[in-house]
Amino acid sequence: MRCVTIILPRKNGVLLLSEPFPGSLEKLLRPAKPRALVEALRRLQAGFTVAQDRRQGGYLRHAPAVAAYGAFYGLRTATKVHRLLNELQPRPRTVLDLGAGTMGAALGALVTCSSIDQVHAIDRSRQALNWGSERLRAHAPNLKIKTFAGDLLHRKTRFPTVDLVLAANVLDEFRHSRDRQRLFRAMFNAVSPGGLLLLVEPGTRRASQKLIEIREAVKSDLSILGPCTGAARCPYAEHPKDGWCFSEWEPQEPRWYGRLRESAGIRRQRLTWSWLALAPEACRPPRGARVISGSMAVGRYLCAPEGRILSSSASDSWQRGTLLSDWDQGAME
Ligand SMILES: C[S@@+](CC[C@H](N)C(=O)[O-])C[C@H]1O[C@@H](n2cnc3c(N)ncnc32)[C@H](O)[C@@H]1O
Repeated sequence: MRCVTIILPRKNGVLLLSEPFPGSLEKLLRPAKPRALVEALRRLQAGFTVAQDRRQGGYLRHAPAVAAYGAFYGLRTATKVHRLLNELQPRPRTVLDLGAGTMGAALGALVTCSSIDQVHAIDRSRQALNWGSERLRAHAPNLKIKTFAGDLLHRKTRFPTVDLVLAANVLDEFRHSRDRQRLFRAMFNAVSPGGLLLLVEPGTRRASQKLIEIREAVKSDLSILGPCTGAARCPYAEHPKDGWCFSEWEPQEPRWYGRLRESAGIRRQRLTWSWLALAPEACRPPRGARVISGSMAVGRYLCAPEGRILSSSASDSWQRGTLLSDWDQGAME
Protein backbone atom coordinates (compact mmCIF):
# COMPACT_ATOMS: atom_id res chain seq x y z
CA MET A 1 0.00 0.00 0.00
CA ARG A 2 1.28 3.50 -0.84
CA CYS A 3 1.08 6.06 1.92
CA VAL A 4 0.80 9.76 1.12
CA THR A 5 1.51 12.37 3.73
CA ILE A 6 -0.49 15.55 3.30
CA ILE A 7 0.84 18.50 5.27
CA LEU A 8 -1.95 20.92 6.05
CA PRO A 9 -1.06 24.50 6.98
CA ARG A 10 -1.38 25.41 10.67
CA LYS A 11 -1.15 28.68 12.59
CA ASN A 12 -0.91 28.58 16.41
CA GLY A 13 -1.80 24.91 16.20
CA VAL A 14 -5.04 25.60 14.30
CA LEU A 15 -5.60 23.91 10.97
CA LEU A 16 -6.08 26.41 8.16
CA LEU A 17 -8.44 25.11 5.52
CA SER A 18 -8.07 28.04 3.17
CA GLU A 19 -10.01 28.54 -0.02
CA PRO A 20 -9.47 31.11 -2.75
CA PHE A 21 -11.59 34.25 -3.08
CA PRO A 22 -14.72 33.52 -5.17
CA GLY A 23 -13.42 33.35 -8.76
CA SER A 24 -16.04 35.63 -10.33
CA LEU A 25 -15.35 38.40 -7.79
CA GLU A 26 -11.61 38.12 -8.13
CA LYS A 27 -11.85 38.32 -11.91
CA LEU A 28 -14.11 41.39 -11.80
CA LEU A 29 -11.93 43.29 -9.34
CA ARG A 30 -8.45 42.25 -10.50
CA PRO A 31 -6.66 45.45 -11.62
CA ALA A 32 -4.81 45.63 -14.94
CA LYS A 33 -1.71 47.02 -13.20
CA PRO A 34 -1.70 46.11 -9.50
CA ARG A 35 1.70 47.73 -8.93
CA ALA A 36 0.25 51.12 -9.83
CA LEU A 37 -2.06 50.87 -6.80
CA VAL A 38 0.59 50.26 -4.13
CA GLU A 39 1.15 53.86 -3.05
CA ALA A 40 -2.56 54.73 -2.92
CA LEU A 41 -3.29 51.56 -0.93
CA ARG A 42 -0.48 52.33 1.51
CA ARG A 43 -2.00 55.79 2.11
CA LEU A 44 -5.51 54.42 2.55
CA GLN A 45 -4.33 51.80 5.01
CA ALA A 46 -2.40 54.42 7.02
CA GLY A 47 -5.62 56.46 7.19
CA PHE A 48 -7.63 53.47 8.46
CA THR A 49 -5.19 52.59 11.20
CA VAL A 50 -5.10 56.01 12.89
CA ALA A 51 -7.46 56.61 15.80
CA GLN A 52 -11.02 57.10 14.56
CA ASP A 53 -11.22 60.69 15.82
CA ARG A 54 -8.14 61.67 13.75
CA ARG A 55 -9.40 60.19 10.46
CA GLN A 56 -9.84 62.50 7.52
CA GLY A 57 -13.16 61.97 5.76
CA GLY A 58 -13.52 61.84 1.99
CA TYR A 59 -10.66 59.42 1.34
CA LEU A 60 -12.34 58.21 -1.87
CA ARG A 61 -12.06 61.50 -3.75
CA HIS A 62 -9.20 60.69 -6.13
CA ALA A 63 -8.99 58.08 -8.88
CA PRO A 64 -5.93 56.17 -7.52
CA ALA A 65 -7.53 55.86 -4.06
CA VAL A 66 -10.82 54.67 -5.57
CA ALA A 67 -9.08 52.05 -7.74
CA ALA A 68 -6.94 50.82 -4.82
CA TYR A 69 -9.95 50.68 -2.50
CA GLY A 70 -12.12 48.91 -5.06
CA ALA A 71 -9.59 46.20 -5.90
CA PHE A 72 -8.20 45.52 -2.43
CA TYR A 73 -10.88 46.28 0.19
CA GLY A 74 -13.72 45.86 -2.32
CA LEU A 75 -12.75 42.22 -2.87
CA ARG A 76 -12.74 41.65 0.89
CA THR A 77 -16.14 43.31 1.37
CA ALA A 78 -17.67 41.43 -1.57
CA THR A 79 -16.33 38.11 -0.25
CA LYS A 80 -17.70 38.70 3.25
CA VAL A 81 -21.15 39.56 1.86
CA HIS A 82 -21.00 36.52 -0.44
CA ARG A 83 -20.23 34.21 2.50
CA LEU A 84 -22.98 35.71 4.66
CA LEU A 85 -25.64 35.59 1.95
CA ASN A 86 -24.70 31.98 1.25
CA GLU A 87 -25.66 31.25 4.84
CA LEU A 88 -28.77 33.48 4.93
CA GLN A 89 -30.11 32.41 1.51
CA PRO A 90 -32.38 35.40 0.75
CA ARG A 91 -33.99 35.79 -2.70
CA PRO A 92 -33.98 39.59 -3.17
CA ARG A 93 -34.96 41.31 -6.40
CA THR A 94 -33.95 44.81 -5.30
CA VAL A 95 -30.88 45.86 -3.30
CA LEU A 96 -29.78 49.10 -1.61
CA ASP A 97 -26.07 49.47 -0.78
CA LEU A 98 -25.56 52.30 1.74
CA GLY A 99 -22.17 53.96 2.17
CA ALA A 100 -21.48 51.79 -0.85
CA GLY A 101 -18.06 53.18 -1.76
CA THR A 102 -16.91 51.09 -4.74
CA MET A 103 -20.01 48.89 -4.30
CA GLY A 104 -18.19 45.78 -3.06
CA ALA A 105 -21.21 44.77 -0.95
CA ALA A 106 -23.61 45.05 -3.90
CA LEU A 107 -21.19 43.08 -6.05
CA GLY A 108 -20.96 40.33 -3.41
CA ALA A 109 -24.77 40.15 -3.36
CA LEU A 110 -25.04 40.17 -7.14
CA VAL A 111 -22.73 37.18 -7.65
CA THR A 112 -24.53 35.27 -4.87
CA CYS A 113 -28.23 35.96 -5.52
CA SER A 114 -29.29 35.41 -9.12
CA SER A 115 -32.71 36.93 -8.26
CA ILE A 116 -31.31 40.52 -8.16
CA ASP A 117 -32.38 42.78 -11.04
CA GLN A 118 -32.02 46.25 -9.51
CA VAL A 119 -29.29 47.85 -7.38
CA HIS A 120 -29.45 51.26 -5.69
CA ALA A 121 -26.35 52.72 -4.06
CA ILE A 122 -25.71 55.84 -1.99
CA ASP A 123 -22.33 57.27 -1.04
CA ARG A 124 -20.80 60.70 -0.81
CA SER A 125 -18.11 59.71 -3.35
CA ARG A 126 -19.41 59.98 -6.93
CA GLN A 127 -16.08 58.59 -8.24
CA ALA A 128 -16.39 55.45 -6.11
CA LEU A 129 -20.01 54.88 -7.22
CA ASN A 130 -19.01 55.20 -10.89
CA TRP A 131 -16.13 52.74 -10.42
CA GLY A 132 -18.44 50.23 -8.74
CA SER A 133 -21.24 50.63 -11.30
CA GLU A 134 -18.82 49.70 -14.09
CA ARG A 135 -17.92 46.43 -12.30
CA LEU A 136 -21.56 45.58 -11.63
CA ARG A 137 -22.44 46.22 -15.25
CA ALA A 138 -19.52 44.05 -16.41
CA HIS A 139 -21.05 41.17 -14.43
CA ALA A 140 -24.71 41.82 -15.30
CA PRO A 141 -25.18 44.05 -18.38
CA ASN A 142 -29.00 44.18 -17.97
CA LEU A 143 -28.95 45.13 -14.29
CA LYS A 144 -30.76 48.40 -13.40
CA ILE A 145 -28.33 50.54 -11.38
CA LYS A 146 -29.31 53.78 -9.66
CA THR A 147 -26.68 55.71 -7.75
CA PHE A 148 -26.98 58.82 -5.60
CA ALA A 149 -23.94 60.81 -4.49
CA GLY A 150 -24.84 62.53 -1.24
CA ASP A 151 -24.76 62.48 2.54
CA LEU A 152 -26.54 59.54 4.16
CA LEU A 153 -27.64 61.72 7.05
CA HIS A 154 -28.85 64.70 5.03
CA ARG A 155 -32.54 65.25 5.66
CA LYS A 156 -33.23 65.34 1.90
CA THR A 157 -31.51 61.97 1.20
CA ARG A 158 -34.23 59.39 0.49
CA PHE A 159 -33.71 55.63 0.78
CA PRO A 160 -35.83 53.57 -1.65
CA THR A 161 -37.68 50.55 -0.23
CA VAL A 162 -35.95 47.32 -1.29
CA ASP A 163 -35.73 43.60 -0.47
CA LEU A 164 -32.12 43.66 0.74
CA VAL A 165 -30.43 46.61 2.45
CA LEU A 166 -26.65 46.31 2.77
CA ALA A 167 -24.40 48.55 4.85
CA ALA A 168 -20.78 47.42 4.97
CA ASN A 169 -18.16 49.22 7.05
CA VAL A 170 -20.41 52.24 7.37
CA LEU A 171 -21.76 52.48 10.93
CA ASP A 172 -18.18 52.49 12.20
CA GLU A 173 -17.62 55.73 10.24
CA PHE A 174 -20.08 57.57 12.49
CA ARG A 175 -18.62 58.60 15.81
CA HIS A 176 -21.78 59.79 17.52
CA SER A 177 -24.25 57.25 18.78
CA ARG A 178 -27.24 59.47 17.87
CA ASP A 179 -26.06 59.52 14.20
CA ARG A 180 -25.70 55.73 14.19
CA GLN A 181 -29.16 55.31 15.69
CA ARG A 182 -30.68 57.69 13.13
CA LEU A 183 -28.96 55.89 10.29
CA PHE A 184 -29.97 52.48 11.60
CA ARG A 185 -33.64 53.53 11.79
CA ALA A 186 -33.52 54.91 8.24
CA MET A 187 -31.84 51.72 6.97
CA PHE A 188 -34.38 49.52 8.62
CA ASN A 189 -37.31 51.58 7.32
CA ALA A 190 -36.00 50.91 3.79
CA VAL A 191 -36.47 47.13 4.16
CA SER A 192 -39.60 45.83 2.40
CA PRO A 193 -41.91 43.38 4.23
CA GLY A 194 -40.22 39.99 3.90
CA GLY A 195 -36.86 41.70 3.29
CA LEU A 196 -33.53 41.72 5.09
CA LEU A 197 -31.04 44.25 6.50
CA LEU A 198 -27.44 43.05 6.56
CA LEU A 199 -24.87 45.08 8.51
CA VAL A 200 -21.23 44.10 8.09
CA GLU A 201 -18.55 45.86 10.12
CA PRO A 202 -14.86 45.35 10.89
CA GLY A 203 -14.02 42.47 13.23
CA THR A 204 -12.82 44.83 15.95
CA ARG A 205 -14.07 44.97 19.52
CA ARG A 206 -15.43 48.49 19.00
CA ALA A 207 -17.37 47.66 15.82
CA SER A 208 -18.74 44.41 17.26
CA GLN A 209 -19.90 46.15 20.43
CA LYS A 210 -21.86 48.67 18.36
CA LEU A 211 -23.70 45.80 16.64
CA ILE A 212 -24.28 44.03 19.97
CA GLU A 213 -25.81 47.27 21.32
CA ILE A 214 -28.19 47.38 18.33
CA ARG A 215 -29.06 43.71 18.72
CA GLU A 216 -29.87 44.07 22.40
CA ALA A 217 -31.96 47.21 21.76
CA VAL A 218 -34.13 45.77 18.96
CA LYS A 219 -34.28 42.04 19.72
CA SER A 220 -37.83 42.12 21.11
CA ASP A 221 -39.25 44.00 18.08
CA LEU A 222 -37.36 42.55 15.10
CA SER A 223 -36.14 39.13 13.98
CA ILE A 224 -32.41 38.53 14.30
CA LEU A 225 -31.23 36.12 11.61
CA GLY A 226 -27.56 36.05 12.53
CA PRO A 227 -24.96 35.70 13.80
CA CYS A 228 -27.11 34.98 16.87
CA THR A 229 -28.71 31.55 17.14
CA GLY A 230 -31.51 32.46 19.53
CA ALA A 231 -29.82 33.19 22.89
CA ALA A 232 -32.01 35.47 25.01
CA ARG A 233 -29.00 37.73 25.71
CA CYS A 234 -25.79 38.02 23.69
CA PRO A 235 -23.01 36.24 25.65
CA TYR A 236 -20.68 39.15 24.90
CA ALA A 237 -23.24 41.68 26.16
CA GLU A 238 -23.24 39.62 29.34
CA HIS A 239 -19.44 39.15 29.52
CA PRO A 240 -17.97 42.08 27.51
CA LYS A 241 -14.52 41.57 29.04
CA ASP A 242 -14.37 38.03 27.63
CA GLY A 243 -14.23 39.21 24.02
CA TRP A 244 -16.50 40.13 21.15
CA CYS A 245 -18.40 38.46 18.34
CA PHE A 246 -16.69 38.20 14.96
CA SER A 247 -16.05 35.84 12.06
CA GLU A 248 -12.75 35.10 10.41
CA TRP A 249 -11.50 33.52 7.24
CA GLU A 250 -8.03 33.27 5.74
CA PRO A 251 -8.15 33.27 1.94
CA GLN A 252 -5.69 31.66 -0.39
CA GLU A 253 -4.69 34.87 -2.11
CA PRO A 254 -4.07 35.13 -5.85
CA ARG A 255 -0.50 36.21 -6.49
CA TRP A 256 -1.38 39.80 -7.53
CA TYR A 257 -3.40 40.32 -4.35
CA GLY A 258 -0.75 38.99 -1.96
CA ARG A 259 1.94 41.08 -3.65
CA LEU A 260 -0.19 44.22 -3.53
CA ARG A 261 -0.97 43.65 0.15
CA GLU A 262 2.65 43.06 1.10
CA SER A 263 4.00 45.95 -1.01
CA ALA A 264 1.54 48.30 0.71
CA GLY A 265 2.79 47.08 4.12
CA ILE A 266 -0.45 45.31 5.10
CA ARG A 267 0.61 42.28 7.11
CA ARG A 268 -2.69 40.65 7.86
CA GLN A 269 -3.96 38.16 5.30
CA ARG A 270 -6.90 37.05 7.46
CA LEU A 271 -10.33 38.62 6.91
CA THR A 272 -12.31 39.40 10.07
CA TRP A 273 -15.74 40.93 10.35
CA SER A 274 -18.66 41.36 12.70
CA TRP A 275 -22.21 41.33 11.37
CA LEU A 276 -25.89 41.47 12.12
CA ALA A 277 -28.82 40.37 9.93
CA LEU A 278 -32.31 41.61 10.80
CA ALA A 279 -35.76 41.18 9.33
CA PRO A 280 -39.00 43.09 10.00
CA GLU A 281 -41.13 39.94 9.86
CA ALA A 282 -41.22 37.12 12.38
CA CYS A 283 -38.52 34.60 11.37
CA ARG A 284 -36.72 31.91 13.31
CA PRO A 285 -33.01 32.35 14.11
CA PRO A 286 -30.73 29.86 12.37
CA ARG A 287 -30.70 26.33 13.80
CA GLY A 288 -27.62 25.15 15.62
CA ALA A 289 -24.72 26.88 17.35
CA ARG A 290 -22.03 29.29 16.22
CA VAL A 291 -18.32 29.18 17.04
CA ILE A 292 -17.58 32.40 18.95
CA SER A 293 -14.06 31.88 20.27
CA GLY A 294 -10.65 30.89 19.08
CA SER A 295 -9.20 27.50 19.89
CA MET A 296 -8.41 27.08 23.61
CA ALA A 297 -6.83 24.19 25.53
CA VAL A 298 -10.30 23.36 26.94
CA GLY A 299 -12.15 23.59 23.61
CA ARG A 300 -14.14 26.44 22.09
CA TYR A 301 -17.05 28.59 23.09
CA LEU A 302 -20.21 28.26 21.05
CA CYS A 303 -23.25 30.55 21.01
CA ALA A 304 -26.37 28.37 21.22
CA PRO A 305 -30.05 29.07 22.01
CA GLU A 306 -29.27 28.42 25.68
CA GLY A 307 -26.43 31.00 25.66
CA ARG A 308 -22.66 30.51 25.71
CA ILE A 309 -21.54 26.90 26.02
CA LEU A 310 -18.10 25.33 26.05
CA SER A 311 -17.52 22.54 23.57
CA SER A 312 -14.60 20.32 24.48
CA SER A 313 -15.04 18.34 21.25
CA ALA A 314 -14.09 21.26 18.97
CA SER A 315 -12.97 20.26 15.49
CA ASP A 316 -9.88 21.65 13.77
CA SER A 317 -12.01 22.65 10.78
CA TRP A 318 -14.14 25.10 12.79
CA GLN A 319 -13.36 28.73 12.27
CA ARG A 320 -14.59 31.61 14.38
CA GLY A 321 -18.03 32.41 13.00
CA THR A 322 -18.75 28.92 11.60
CA LEU A 323 -22.42 27.95 12.00
CA LEU A 324 -22.74 24.34 13.19
CA SER A 325 -26.24 23.81 11.86
CA ASP A 326 -26.56 20.22 13.06
CA TRP A 327 -25.32 21.05 16.56
CA ASP A 328 -27.54 19.40 19.12
CA GLN A 329 -26.56 20.02 22.72
CA GLY A 330 -28.73 17.16 24.00
CA ALA A 331 -27.01 14.68 21.70
CA MET A 332 -23.55 15.78 22.90
CA GLU A 333 -24.21 15.04 26.58
C1 LIG B 1 -15.09 52.15 4.84
S1 LIG B 1 -15.95 52.69 3.42
C2 LIG B 1 -16.96 51.29 3.04
C3 LIG B 1 -17.27 51.18 1.58
C4 LIG B 1 -18.00 49.90 1.19
N1 LIG B 1 -19.28 49.80 1.84
C5 LIG B 1 -17.15 48.69 1.53
O1 LIG B 1 -17.34 48.10 2.59
O2 LIG B 1 -16.29 48.33 0.73
C6 LIG B 1 -17.11 53.81 4.08
C7 LIG B 1 -17.92 54.50 3.01
O3 LIG B 1 -18.92 55.29 3.64
C8 LIG B 1 -19.01 56.51 2.94
N2 LIG B 1 -19.55 57.50 3.88
C9 LIG B 1 -19.09 57.79 5.12
N3 LIG B 1 -19.87 58.73 5.68
C10 LIG B 1 -20.83 59.05 4.78
C11 LIG B 1 -21.92 59.94 4.78
N4 LIG B 1 -22.17 60.72 5.82
N5 LIG B 1 -22.70 59.99 3.68
C12 LIG B 1 -22.45 59.20 2.61
N6 LIG B 1 -21.43 58.33 2.55
C13 LIG B 1 -20.63 58.25 3.62
C14 LIG B 1 -17.59 56.82 2.49
O4 LIG B 1 -17.57 57.69 1.37
C15 LIG B 1 -17.08 55.43 2.15
O5 LIG B 1 -17.30 55.11 0.80
